[in-house]
Amino acid sequence: MGIFQLPFRKKSKKTNVELSNKSLTLVPDHVAIIMDGNGRWANERGLPRFAGHKEGMDNVKRIVKAANKHNISIITMYAFSTENWKRPKPEVDYLLKLPKEFLNTYLPELIEENVQIKTIGAFNLLPEHTKKAVQHAIEKTKANDGLILNIALNYGSRSELVHSVQSIANSVKEGNLDPSQIDESTIANSLYTYDLPDPDLLIRTSGEMRLSNFLLWQSAYTEFWFAKEYWPSFTEEIFEQALLDYQNRKRRFGGL
Ligand code: FPP
Repeated sequence: MGIFQLPFRKKSKKTNVELSNKSLTLVPDHVAIIMDGNGRWANERGLPRFAGHKEGMDNVKRIVKAANKHNISIITMYAFSTENWKRPKPEVDYLLKLPKEFLNTYLPELIEENVQIKTIGAFNLLPEHTKKAVQHAIEKTKANDGLILNIALNYGSRSELVHSVQSIANSVKEGNLDPSQIDESTIANSLYTYDLPDPDLLIRTSGEMRLSNFLLWQSAYTEFWFAKEYWPSFTEEIFEQALLDYQNRKRRFGGL
């Protein structure tokens, strides 16, 4: 079990930036992104799907830089879902090579920018080369206290909840926990995100409007923002538009 986390943390940060004649005065603490549309981006250009994923990988770096610039604390990127294993093997292999390629290319810059790398998901089931590259980056950036780049790898909310239930059931079986003691924090603290606040803003690109098994528990009170652009075309300016819209949302967390 991890650190105690309030289930409904209300946390945005004050800022003051002029963007396209509007002031950005409040940014979300934690932004989560479903990076959708790489395949369609490539298809529209007559390119193989891989080219879309590669361009999508480079866009992760651009958006991380923008998030850092705006003083966002955490950005969680959905890079590989538990359902993505169903894709043709060459695409799965390519997607699972991207974390290594991303880190080979950008780790020095990320270190310079004080970014800390984390992951959520069933890490042990990833190929050795993926795990090695990510573990190396986690180790190299663990002392950084800037933006957290949290990469969701082999992540799926339902499997996360299955693991959570199993770990809680084991605690009960071992006599360390009485069922009457189980509350929302027991569950929150047994998820992969046990040490992170819930996302304040969730963005999905490519015009699709669904959660696709991403952060189901954690997004109970998250603000959603949908972009019609495919992920490789999701620019810093569009990201800033999402931030500008977010600051006008009235977050009541079920209250008045
Ligand atoms: C969904 O688009 C995207 C993915 C399944 C992969 C997302 C991965 C990246 C953007 C790069 C990973 C980056 C790092 C840092 C590891 P899709 O292929 O489903 O697109 P489509 O719906 O248009 O086919």
